[in-house]
Amino acid sequence: MPSIKFNSKNYNISPDQSVLDLLILNNEEVNYFCKSGLCQSCMMEFNEGTPPQKSQMGLSEADKLQKKFLPCLCFPEDDISIKKCNEENKKYPAKILAKEIINNEIIILKLKKPNNYSFYPGQYLNIYKDNKCLRSYSIASLCDEKNEIELHIKHFFQGEMSNWIFTHLKDGDEINISRALGNCFFTPEARNKPLLFLGVSTGVAPLLGICRQAISANHNEKIHFIQGGKNKNSLYADEFLHNLKLMHNNFSLFSCCLENNENNNILKYVEENYLNLENWKVYICGDPNFVDSAKELVFLQGAHSDDIHSDSFLFINK
Ligand SMILES: Cc1cc2nc3c(=O)[nH]c(=O)nc-3n(C[C@H](O)[C@H](O)[C@H](O)COP(=O)(O)OP(=O)(O)OC[C@H]3O[C@@H](n4cnc5c(N)ncnc54)[C@H](O)[C@@H]3O)c2cc1C
Ligand code: FES
Repeated sequence: MPSIKFNSKNYNISPDQSVLDLLILNNEEVNYFCKSGLCQSCMMEFNEGTPPQKSQMGLSEADKLQKKFLPCLCFPEDDISIKKCNEENKKYPAKILAKEIINNEIIILKLKKPNNYSFYPGQYLNIYKDNKCLRSYSIASLCDEKNEIELHIKHFFQGEMSNWIFTHLKDGDEINISRALGNCFFTPEARNKPLLFLGVSTGVAPLLGICRQAISANHNEKIHFIQGGKNKNSLYADEFLHNLKLMHNNFSLFSCCLENNENNNILKYVEENYLNLENWKVYICGDPNFVDSAKELVFLQGAHSDDIHSDSFLFINK
């Protein structure tokens, strides 16, 4: 049985037990929330050796090099020695500048960017409701524009966080957020490639961030934005996207609304209209089932796996 050294103590771990579960079982004071690699709130660091690849899933290259890992995804086969890395769990207070109710399903929350806070548009951050409840939301704004962080939030009536945001938060309130996380953003190697964005509902938020970043970097290649949703409420960013189309010749927009036509779905449209995606950069965000199917489809249509970037809006099934 491999042993885990933590806080000058040694624990034995069984093969089907995660490092996080082991530490919780032994009453160690550790941060955690989702237990499934989403929130990164449990992040720790190896003292020596290399963390198993799976335990670094979704971490930035910088974090990986610093031997950071997620104990909830770590099932070690050898002895390891680990420690906390508190800096990563730092909470940043952020004031609500505006809470814009777009319709009965969607809110746009604008936060004042805390001092020394940086992000790449398209990354996500965690909002903390209290010590026990946090959720991830993607960033739709540019980092240096207006010193704001813009989040698009869908209302789930039974949802602990989204209901709190819809019903309790108001302009001027201060909330706690995490640092920016995730790897779905515009990178230099995307500069010379056509870009395809596929998003449903608030999955459009990170795509807007990435798209705005590409446009502000004077991206000359094609930018194709395809959004989808069940109804008109889900296509809440339509006006903004139409304006982008008017302003930029290389920007094209297609909207799929299932309400009008059950066959009008994004996947069918991509399958029929993008027969060769070799050399395209594809960004896909939103509902987990949609993201999985779209990733498979664009791969089959020729996109290289290195050129497919995605964020799946996974949620905790209660
Ligand atoms: C990387 C990442 C980025 C994200 N970015 C965004 C974003 O930009 N905008 C956004 O609105 N959300 C985003 N999410 C989803 C968000 O984190 C929450 O899961 C969502 O807001 C629901 O939280 P809640 O507390 O309101 O609901 P919960 O209390 O967590 O869930 C209550 C119930 O609502 C239902 N439910 C919750 N979410 C869904 C769902 N997606 N589909 C179907 N049923 C659901 C389930 O039945 C669940 O049991 C993101 C998630 C991840 C992992
Ligand atoms: S508890 Fe490990 S990533 Fe959320």
